[in-house]
Amino acid sequence: MIQLDELRELQLERLQWTLRHAYENVPAYRKKFDDAGVRPEDCHSLEDLTKFPFTTKQDLRDNYPFGMFAVPRDQVRRIHASSGTTGQPTVVGYTAQDLDTWAEVMARSIHAAGGHPGHKVHISYGYGLFTGGLGAHYGAEKLGCTVIPASGGMTARQVRIIQDFRPEIIMVTPSYMLTLLDEFERQGIDPRTSSLRVGIFGAEPWTEQMRCEIEERTGMDAVDIYGLSEVIGPGVAQECVETKDGLHIWEDHFYPEVVDPIEQVVLPQGEQGELVFTSLTKQALPIIRYRTRDLTCLLPGTARPEFRRMRKVTGRTDDMIILRGVNVFPTQIEEIVLRTPGLSPHFQLILSKQDRMDTMTVRVEARPATATDARQTAAATLAGQIKNSIGISVAVDITDPDTLERSVGKLRRVIDNRPK
Ligand code: DLL
Repeated sequence: MIQLDELRELQLERLQWTLRHAYENVPAYRKKFDDAGVRPEDCHSLEDLTKFPFTTKQDLRDNYPFGMFAVPRDQVRRIHASSGTTGQPTVVGYTAQDLDTWAEVMARSIHAAGGHPGHKVHISYGYGLFTGGLGAHYGAEKLGCTVIPASGGMTARQVRIIQDFRPEIIMVTPSYMLTLLDEFERQGIDPRTSSLRVGIFGAEPWTEQMRCEIEERTGMDAVDIYGLSEVIGPGVAQECVETKDGLHIWEDHFYPEVVDPIEQVVLPQGEQGELVFTSLTKQALPIIRYRTRDLTCLLPGTARPEFRRMRKVTGRTDDMIILRGVNVFPTQIEEIVLRTPGLSPHFQLILSKQDRMDTMTVRVEARPATATDARQTAAATLAGQIKNSIGISVAVDITDPDTLERSVGKLRRVIDNRPK
């Protein structure tokens, strides 16, 4: 285990290298630093990082596709890209050493989640330009596991493979795990009888209530994994199975800050704000003070005391729904839906405008065998709880089981029908 003072020294050395590497090799960084009047030599301590400008998704878009790369193109071994629901996709690149680093932090993550060499790991994150599938794949191999590269989709076949190959670990988005669980039950198999012992869930926000739901239905440990393409992919931070108390950040490779998204100042440990990351070892795409838009706070380390934790991400600044002046995150609704008897975890939030007023309908499936009067009670309870704890009035529409669209990867919770 690395001592804290050794870690801080290593981080500073790596940070100074990263700043120089970015300044010398990426014109966009050079311009940003020059405009802000800072030079890599101005960084004498980790605190000095605050003198440097932020990087945003827009910077990557403006330099699409390879303009932010800091190494000659022939040294780039792999490219991934984010889906880019709005505008240009974001392109990221890796040298051979970056791919090794990524496999190393992923192997660490799977180990912290309870994985060991020899375990079979079923990977249902999508393979392709998305970093989930291949990121998990190389990490699991590096740890010495046997990889089952299932990718997303073909849900009935996935259940069959899990039954036949008997993996101990599954890596998948929490929303697709729910789809898999429904399929287990549809095939008349109790998921608790499956071989799965650990689920490593990430790529989208999910709540403690969702953890309880999955753990109760499967009997496995459900732990959180965090990451984003711009920083490396999955494996930036991982929840440890022994404490399940937020995610330890692999700080020897990724330096975290939390900032007030409006004032743009660094917040003290424990205060919620926007997570910002600086890569410390990446060659192909060094990233400096990247605004993730994810909301969380930093906490001291527990199971891995040398590394700080981030609290489970509650949402993104751009996921926030503002309904008649009240800020709402889909995770707040998820918590309440899952606490309401008779309601399944499958729900959507539909936003519309009526008489110039924004309205929200929570459309949620009843659990199988919930009688009509129990559904009515559930609808009233849900609306009441949302009013009491969030302070907004919503309509509730309870649908039959198996009627809402199922996730095969990242779930889209919000359907915004408001005129643009
Ligand atoms: O989603 C990488 C990943 C793959 C992480 C598999 C974990 C597992 P992107 O497609 O670039 O990369 O999306 C990154 O997804 O900024 C968050 O908003 C969200 N996200 C990722 N992990 C979590 C998590 C991958 N554990 C964006 N909790 C991030 C909440 C998450 N949100």
